[in-house]
Formats: sequence, C-alpha cells, structure tokens
Amino acid sequence: MAFRTPSLVDETIAPKIDIRDLHFAVEGQQILAGVSVAVRPGEILCVMGLSGAGKSTLTRCVAGLIKPTSGQILVDGEDIAPLPENELARVRAKMGVVFQYAALFDSMNVFENIAFGITRGPRREENKRMARITLIRRVAELLHAVGLPGIEKKLPSELSGGMRRRVGLARALATDPEIVLYDEPTSGLDPVTAASIDELILSTRDRNRVTSIVVSHDMGSIYRIADKILLLYEGHVQILGTPDEVRRSEDPVVSQFIHGEINGPIQVRRR
Ligand SMILES: Nc1ncnc2c1ncn2[C@@H]1O[C@H](COP(=O)(O)OP(=O)(O)OP(=O)(O)O)[C@@H](O)[C@H]1O
Ligand SMILES: [Mg+2]
Repeated sequence: MAFRTPSLVDETIAPKIDIRDLHFAVEGQQILAGVSVAVRPGEILCVMGLSGAGKSTLTRCVAGLIKPTSGQILVDGEDIAPLPENELARVRAKMGVVFQYAALFDSMNVFENIAFGITRGPRREENKRMARITLIRRVAELLHAVGLPGIEKKLPSELSGGMRRRVGLARALATDPEIVLYDEPTSGLDPVTAASIDELILSTRDRNRVTSIVVSHDMGSIYRIADKILLLYEGHVQILGTPDEVRRSEDPVVSQFIHGEINGPIQVRRR
C-alpha cells in the first residue's frame, strides 16, 4: 500500500477553485447554507458528510450543472455561478467529472463511451479532428490506467458496477482536465480496486498538477489522498483541515463522524 505523497500545495498562490458563501435551496429545503472553501492548484480536497448532506449538490454546483441559490464559485478567478450555458462550456472544458453513478451510454461500447468524452465532450472543438489512431491509442492508455485493458468492445451491460465506475473515471480523465471532480469514486469497490483508484487520483494529480475534489465516505481512502478534508454537516462546513487536524479534532460531530459511532450529537434520521 502506497503512503500518502506529501502535499505539493503552496498556500500563497491563488486558488484554482474558490467557493464563497455558497447556498443552495430546493423546495424550501436549505441544502447548502454558506459553504466556503478554497482549493489550490494541485490540491486534493476530500468532502465527506452524511448521506443527503449535500456533497453531490456541491459537486454539481462546481461542475456548473446546477445553479446555486447564492454565493460565488470562482474558477481561475472567474465566478461561474452567473454564467449562461454557452459560456459555461468554456469552463467545463477545464473539468472532468466522475459521477456518483457512472452515467455511461448503454447503447455504446466502452471505446465509444470514452471516445465520446474526447471528441464530443467539453473539448470537442480542439479534439474533433483527432486522428482515429490517436483516439484508439488514447482510449487504450486510459483503460490501462484504470486497470481494464482491452475491454473496448464490451457494452456497459456486460460490466460489473465497479468496472462501469472505472470506465466513467477513464472518460472523465480522457480530456486531460485541469480539475477533476470525483463523486464517490471508490464506494462499492473492493479494497484492492479502491486503493488502485486512489493511486490513479494521486498519479493524475502528480502528472498534470490536477486540482481535485473527491467526495468520499471511505476514511482509509481519504487519509491516503487528501491534502485537506471538509466535513459538510447540516449545510455548513463543520471542519476544514489537514488529515491530521481532522483526526485530532475534539469536535464531537467530527469525531463521531470519522469513527462512525452511533452515539453522539449526530442524529441520523431513519425513514
Ligand atoms: N433537484 C433536487 N430536487 C429536490 N431535492 C434535491 C435535489 N437535489 C438535491 N436534493 C436534496 O438535497 C439533499 C442533498 O442531496 P445530495 O445528493 O447532494 O446528498 P449527498 O451528500 O451527495 O448524499 P449521498 O451520500 O447519499 O450521495 C437531499 O436531501 C436531496 O434529496
Ligand atoms: Mg451524493
């Protein structure tokens, strides 16, 4: 098992992503109630929180897929929250998104699904004339990187859930994004595959100084990859700190969460 590589983050440089006082309400329910966090170039921010805490909502706001009710999301200093759809495409070209439930096209095979991310995705303008041979090589490299070499011709329906997840990961990385948003990339995977995904997140960061936001419940994985950890609780940031700071925190909410204790201030609603 690899040890966490030391952070390359320089706190004095401008953030790649700067989320300021983000609010999101839907159907009268306040999901995010003033979330602020800066993610610097090359940093890996892990976001954790109870199911329903708003982690996916936060990721979807950063990806420009939904509009926050108020607040700012600065990407390279530009607030993307007010941008219209046609301008958002330019910002999305910097991002790769790994959705919580791998959203593959069922009618396309694995090759077509990943190639779609390259030639029809956010960087389609620069990639649409890519030579077929380059595309084939690129898809093969990506499948190799996610531990699934040679499955180009398979259909999503022929893959296990974890394999589908990894194809989704390959598709998100296909355009060499500057920012990658990973929504629970390892949940439901066996520990060995999960560790290999952690390695991939780290090597992606190391290769291009990619800035990452990783939503995860997996404490082992979080401690391996995070530069900073954010705990989202009741719409706000309960703690934002380094893995050491979080581990040492005496905040009862934080310690109940990271140790998965039943008794404590966190009341899980049972439906
Ligand atoms: N478009 C929407 N319409 C109605 N409710 C929504 C919408 N989007 C999110 N919600 C609600 O917002 C809350 C947060 O959802 P979200 O998916 O962000 O949680 P999460 O932290 O990602 O949870 P999980 O760990 O289960 O993935 C939930 O209560 C959900 O029902
Ligand atoms: Mg979610």
